[in-house]
Amino acid sequence: MKIAIGNDHAAVELKEHVMQYLRDKGHEVQDFGIAAGESADYPRQAEKVARAVASGDAERGIVICGTGVGISIAANKVRGIRCACVSEPVSAQLCRAHNNCNMIAFGARIIGPQMAEAIVDAFVETEALGGRHANRVNLIAQLEQDGTCL
Ligand code: RB5
Repeated sequence: MKIAIGNDHAAVELKEHVMQYLRDKGHEVQDFGIAAGESADYPRQAEKVARAVASGDAERGIVICGTGVGISIAANKVRGIRCACVSEPVSAQLCRAHNNCNMIAFGARIIGPQMAEAIVDAFVETEALGGRHANRVNLIAQLEQDGTCL
């Protein structure tokens, strides 16, 4: 799977770990983040990853900052992006199954490398269930496009 990844200065080490983990599993990973010694405003990395996903260049996106919160909020501003901020694998699995999330975010100051591995496994391996869940995801798209889904 082609996966876009990005990070700010709080998450360089964890981003490197996750990138290697995914590559070892055979995924193609495109890095939109920053390297050690650099500083970044996380909305910029969020936008780069989100645009890669929204355009179809990447199938999924993963963004990492200190908490995962800021970078997920920013990613969700790009049309077509559904990014969940998660800190354990059950949410990572269900955000795919129920919400058809095309991105996840997590925090390098919140979780460690082993938890990140379990999260990305769940995110990458789970497919959207569709059905009634797809109807709700369609309502999210309607809210995004029209400003309302009432
Ligand atoms: C950067 O210091 C920090 O604010 C950022 O990584 C993130 O936690 C924001 O949500």
